[in-house]
Formats: sequence, structure tokens, C-alpha cells
Amino acid sequence: MGSRKHSHFTGLLILVAATFSSSIAVANTDESSGLDGAANTRAEALLEKMTQEEKLLLVHGAGWGASPIGGIGYVAGIPRLRIPAISYLDSAAGPNIKGATPLPSPLALAASWDVDLSVAVGGHVARELRTLGFAGGLGGGINLIREPRNGRSFEYLGEDPVLAGEMLAGRIRGTRVVPMLAVAKHFALNDQETDRFAVNAVIQDRPLRELYLRAFEIAVIEGRPDIVMCAYNQVNGEKSCENKHLITDILKREWGFPGYVQSDWSLAINDTVKAAVAGTDEEQPGSLNDDKPDQFGLSSKFNQSLARAVQHGSVAQSRLDDMVLRKLRMLYRSGLMDSPPAAPGRIDESAGDQFALRVAQDSIVLLKNDVGADRAPVLPFTRGGLGSVAVIGGHADAGVISGGGSAQVPPRHGEVVACRTPGANILTIPACANWYASSPLAAMRAKSPGTKFIYSSGDDLNEAIAAAEKADVAVVFATQYVMEQRDLPSLSLPDNRTDPANQGYDQNALIEAVAARAKRTVVVLETGTAVTMPWLSKVNAVLEAWYPGNRGGQAIADVLFGDVDPSGKLPLTFPNSEKELPQAQITPSRVVYDEGLLMGYRRYDALRTKPLFAFGHGLSYTRFAFSAPQVRKGGNGDITVRFRMTNVGKRAGAEVAQVYAALPASAGDTPKRLVAFTKVNLRPNEARQIEISIPAARLAVWKDGWEVPEGETKIFVGGSSDLRDAKTAPILLQALRLSSN
Ligand code: BGC
Repeated sequence: MGSRKHSHFTGLLILVAATFSSSIAVANTDESSGLDGAANTRAEALLEKMTQEEKLLLVHGAGWGASPIGGIGYVAGIPRLRIPAISYLDSAAGPNIKGATPLPSPLALAASWDVDLSVAVGGHVARELRTLGFAGGLGGGINLIREPRNGRSFEYLGEDPVLAGEMLAGRIRGTRVVPMLAVAKHFALNDQETDRFAVNAVIQDRPLRELYLRAFEIAVIEGRPDIVMCAYNQVNGEKSCENKHLITDILKREWGFPGYVQSDWSLAINDTVKAAVAGTDEEQPGSLNDDKPDQFGLSSKFNQSLARAVQHGSVAQSRLDDMVLRKLRMLYRSGLMDSPPAAPGRIDESAGDQFALRVAQDSIVLLKNDVGADRAPVLPFTRGGLGSVAVIGGHADAGVISGGGSAQVPPRHGEVVACRTPGANILTIPACANWYASSPLAAMRAKSPGTKFIYSSGDDLNEAIAAAEKADVAVVFATQYVMEQRDLPSLSLPDNRTDPANQGYDQNALIEAVAARAKRTVVVLETGTAVTMPWLSKVNAVLEAWYPGNRGGQAIADVLFGDVDPSGKLPLTFPNSEKELPQAQITPSRVVYDEGLLMGYRRYDALRTKPLFAFGHGLSYTRFAFSAPQVRKGGNGDITVRFRMTNVGKRAGAEVAQVYAALPASAGDTPKRLVAFTKVNLRPNEARQIEISIPAARLAVWKDGWEVPEGETKIFVGGSSDLRDAKTAPILLQALRLSSN
């Protein structure tokens, strides 16, 4: 539609190869070749020299508070053998220690749909960790968001295994810029915080393999993490860290994972022998004395208890040797053996801030943008065109909010928003959010000196309405605090009852009231997960900024004023209400995944219903067109999809090409699945030819092994998961068995 007329084809071909291949190739991973091979040879030689005591020292942490540099976990080194000590630190959105750069949350990063950015994040975080003296970063959360009320949703990478898997694989690859251990966690089905230490996730093989494990499989095979952290919860009746089927059969044997499995932090292991035999290789936080309970009354399991189990033969010596070998192999492969971390130094704050800004700019999602009577969209604001703006709520005068728990990053220079509940802190419930000193209001003011900005905190509804009435436009900020250990009661924007520590009023009521009286209303959300929007039809524009990090206020202003074109896409579906979720309520003890594959967008597709905002949705200030794809067969059951993308609007921007497959009915799949994606920057009128190679595994279903179904598969290409707008082409596939088991 007009695209041909306007476009000039640049002739540049972008090749995107999804490197994930079938399980067969993986099962045959040859650890004796390449980098792993060299690392393995050196590790084996070193293992030969170790005493039993030294071996035991390497398979458990030294307890809470043992890291001399403030890490959350610590494995003592062995100077005699030049094995360095390992201090681990959480690093989901940056190193969780004062001085580090708070980046946007991992869910925000997922909203960028930009694997290159994820690589850059991996590199950036690894450099900061290294500068701060750490050897391992624990920032690889990849549990799929089946339940958006999960308190840790902001730490994860969305609801789809291909998006999450590729984003984490990129992040881990990025880590390799410095010697640093990278993790993928929490293996597996740690999908809620309610009863997190014990809850039993009960699931059938097919959704387990096609959704929840598939995300890990992609991250493990493409990203090659050093560590996989096993989860607190049970999977089909076995604690994850005691689950031999998950750890040994699938992760280590089937996927060929050469690294080590680390337990989540206490209460992940109940039974020393079961965990060791199942394949767990390191206990955290561990202790120097298994027979002396820690401050929480808990005893560790992989020190004296493990020594006794080996002595009595209930854990084979070869298993202990394997635990150590796996760690040494990763220490060599990562470069840490040859180049251990130095004493902590200071990070470059301004470089960190620049980077945090870039991530935030790439991840903000424009959800709604009405076109006004003057036929101009509400956003972006034009500098000269705005006489007055009312900025309301969300502490927009002070900064931006972030999520809580191990994935938080402390503000560098202290809190800018006071907690409303005296005495509360991150360990208490209610807990206080961290806020970063990046004021959206200040950033907006700086952009438009001629505009009159009026700020109202939102605490006084009448004052807010009065401000809104007087202004050309009202921008209402709404925030949602989400944290580890606690699931949300609902997806409603929190108020002073549901989050008394961080909210002073009913945010939904404020937005409704402002929208009823303002000339135009823009809502800016800073949230850790999806939220419901009862006021949606009454507001003119909505921006989802997630937890946008240390320069979040700047990034929000950049998008509002059009200095940055919004290019984020939802990494999870936003439901109309909680009733649409797979489970009515989050329950303790036993959670049955009886929705099977009907999770996230797959659920809406199968039930033929519409969510509030679809997975993959995100608007831009420019417009893009896609040509119909051409689909060809390649070798080994792979296919190649080729299409053209054109920027048919007037501004530069970036679009995410999303490739979905609809398998033949005989496959019993949901109506579509994401099989590939790529983000492309395009100048106005620029067109690019894109070619994406899609491995057969992306088209396979689990039938006691991976199988590509026979028949016509339809390939859809577009800028969202709404296939009404997508271009399509069929391809006839032959049945193909991919797995050898
Ligand atoms: C979390 C992990 C985290 C660890 C160390 C646990 O409670 O589940 O994600 O890495 O603590 O802080």
C-alpha cells in the first residue's frame, strides 16, 4: 500500500540465523573439541591433583555473608592450586550493590525484542561485576510468565520461549567480554512466589517441553551459560534440585550442558544424597559446617553431609569428581582461572548512565496513541506546540520506580522518594520500593522551555483535576511495585490499601478523574508486569515504560517528545482482567498446569478472544510495511523465510519483524507460535530485504521426542502478533523426527 511508490530498495540483505538446532545435534555435543575441550583437559589435569577436602570445598558456598566484597554467595578458593575464590552477586538489572548502574528491568529488556541490545546488556553488566570484584553474576532469570501476578515477572523475559530464550542467550553471549560466570535460572517452573520453597508444579510433558523447558533449552544451547540454577519449587513431585529427570536426563545428557548446576539460596535442597545423585553440583549459600544451623535455623547439605554420603557410598566418588570437574571446566572456559577478578574498583557512572538510557529508549512500548480531531496523533508532543502540561502523580517530579528483591539495584546516591510506611524495608511486607533520581518532569521541562509545566502529586484529587483542566494535555504517571517473595493480589494498579508503603491514593480513580476533565490525557506506566486499565477508552495515549532504570525519566521524556521513536513490543499479553489467566487464583502447595499449551497469546488464540493488548504489540511514530514472505526449504528440515520491510512513514524508526508459524491441524498445536524475530532500524522510505533461517526444531512438537508435523504450515510475518495485519505464505513440510530418544 504505497510502500512501493515511496520506497527505494537499498539492496541490503539482512541475514538472521537462528542457531538453535535440533536436539540430536546437541546430544552429540563433543566436549573434547573446541574451547570446552581445552578447558576440559586442563580441568581434568587439575582435578587429579586435588585432595578430597579440596574437592568438597568447591561444591558448596561458605554461608550467608561470607563474601568479603558483599556478594550473596561465596565459594572459597584454593591458593595452593591457584583456584580463585568466587563471589557471586545478583545482577538481573545490574549488579545488586551500591555504586552499580541500575538498568531497566529484564522484562523491559525483553520488550526491546533486540537481541543485540541483550548482548550489550550482558557485556555491560559483566564489566561492572568484574570491576566490582565479582566472578559470577546471577542475572539470568528465564521463567516464562504464565502467571503475570508472579512477583518476579519483572525479572523474567516474557511469556514466549523463543523470545525469552533468544534474549537470554544473547545476554549470556555478551557476558564473554570479560572472564565472568553466567547463569540461567530458575530451573524449572518457578512461576510464582506463593509458597515458593515448596510448591509443586504439576505439568504434562508437552507444555513442559514446548514452553517452559524450551526457553531454557534455547538459552543453554545458544547462550552456553556456565551455571544453571535449580529452583526452590518441586516439579512433578520432586524438588527441582533433586530432580534427576530434569537435571541429569534433560539438561546434562539431552542438551549436553557442560557447566554446573547451582542450588537456589537455601531450602532448595532437602536431601543431600538425592540432590547430589540428581546432578546438583553446588549448594548455595552453603556453610562451613553442615551440622550447625544458620541464623534461619537451616542446615546446609553439601559439606560434611556430602563427605559422609561419599564415604558411605550413597553418593559415588565419581559424582563428586564430576561436580568439581564441571566447575573447574567453567573456570577455565570463562578465563577466570587465568585471570581472576582483582580487588573492587569504581565503575564509570556516566558510561553506565548512558548505557542505561539506551536500554530504556529501546524498550518503552507505545500501547495506544489516538489521532485527534486535527488528524494529528496525541504523541509525540511538538515542542513549540504545547502551551501547558499538567504532570500528575507517580513521583514524576523525583524519579522512577524499580522492583524489589534480589533483582533490585540500590540507588547510587540514596532514595529520592520517602517510604510511606516507617520502618518498612525490602525485607518486610509491606516493603519500600527503590526509586532512581531521574525525574520525567525535569527531563520534559528541559526539552520544552517555552511550555508551562504544572506538577500535582496526585495525593489531592481536586488539585490534580484542577491542574489537568487548565492544561493543554495531562500526563498521568502510574507506578506498580512488584517484588520477589510476594505475588500480586491482582493486576490492578496498586492503591494505598494494596501497597501502603509506596502508594498514597487510588491510581485508577486518579486517571479516571483526570481523563474526565482534561483536554487530552496521556498515561505513562512504570510497572513490573501487566496491569489492567479500566480507564483505557477514556485516555488518549498510553506508554509502558516498565522499570526504566537510572535514566528512565529521560527516556520517557525522549519518547513523549519524539526524540526517540518508540520501538518496544509487549513481551507478554496484557489481559482485560485476571479472569482470563490460566488460573483463577494463585494457590500454594500444588499448582496444576492443566491449561496445557494455553498460556499467554496461545490461550487467546485458541479461545478466540482478544486481550487488552496482544503479545508483540507496540506502536511507533512512523509506519512499516512488510512484503509477503517467500518460504523455502533448507537442509535438515530447516526453512528460510525471506521478506522485505519498508519504513513507509516520515520518521526514522525501528520495527520488530515477528515470524509466526501455524502448524497443520494434525500437530495439535495452538493456532500460532513465534518462531523467529528480528529488530531492524529503518530511515524514512528505506526498505530492506530480510532473510531468516528457521531451524526445524522451531517447527517441532513434543511427542516423546521432537517431531516436525507433516502437512501445510503457514508462515506469518508482521509487526505484531495480530495476524490480521500479517503477510503469509504456506510451506508443505514432511514429517521429521528430530530427537534420538
Ligand atoms: C533467588 C535467586 C537469587 C538468590 C540469591 C534467591 O532467593 O531466588 O534468584 O539469585 O536468592 O540472592
